[in-house]
Amino acid sequence: MHVQSRPLSANALLQGPVDVVLIAHGYLPDQANCQDDLPACQGALAINGISPVLFAEAFAQSMALNRQGTLAMIGSVAGDRGRQSNYIYGAAKSLVARYAQGLQHRFSGTNIKVVLIKPGPTDTPMTAHLKAQSTNLATVEDVAKQIVTAVDKGCAVAYTPGKWKYIMWVIVHLPNKLFNKLKI
Ligand SMILES: NC(=O)c1ccc[n+]([C@@H]2O[C@H](COP(=O)([O-])OP(=O)(O)OC[C@H]3O[C@@H](n4cnc5c(N)ncnc54)[C@H](OP(=O)(O)O)[C@@H]3O)[C@@H](O)[C@H]2O)c1
Repeated sequence: MHVQSRPLSANALLQGPVDVVLIAHGYLPDQANCQDDLPACQGALAINGISPVLFAEAFAQSMALNRQGTLAMIGSVAGDRGRQSNYIYGAAKSLVARYAQGLQHRFSGTNIKVVLIKPGPTDTPMTAHLKAQSTNLATVEDVAKQIVTAVDKGCAVAYTPGKWKYIMWVIVHLPNKLFNKLKI
């Protein structure tokens, strides 16, 4: 991928200060396909990881100039620990998470808030195939409400639904010996 070297210019495109930005694009790539097809893998990393970061960086520049704003990004519980079933998507979401963490550090003590949302499986077009497999999915309405609350409060990290904070704590802390036996 070639990214042209030019100064970031989100501020030039905007009419005035931005209060809230929600970066929410992404797609669930087929893990097996990413393993077999490097361009597909590159696309999955670019759309789910690099692109959200570049959008965020452009808005961060604008918010820094205006000394205010809330920048929210949708990561995923998939970014918390690499798993065989979706580690390319997880790696991209992990990039978003580490980036958001750095931005929070950069803007600490300012009026700029950076919010990282980590949804669990949610009933959207992205997961239509999971619904067919009767996977338990959160409703869009519940997740959306929790995102609005997290953005209003300027939470650093918000798992939604909240139970995923505890589920992922367990997943992240499982010793490798045990974790590597799981087919997840
Ligand atoms: N649903 C879940 O279980 C779940 C769980 C964790 C995290 N997330 C994250 O939540 C966010 C929203 O996803 P969603 O579940 O609401 O899925 P969605 O309904 O499929 O929405 C995904 C959005 O991303 C856009 N998008 C996808 N690929 C794109 C591309 N190449 N270029 C530009 N835009 C693109 C889509 O645009 P078009 O409508 O134009 O295609 C759509 O607006 C994503 O970041 C996703 O990774 C979802």
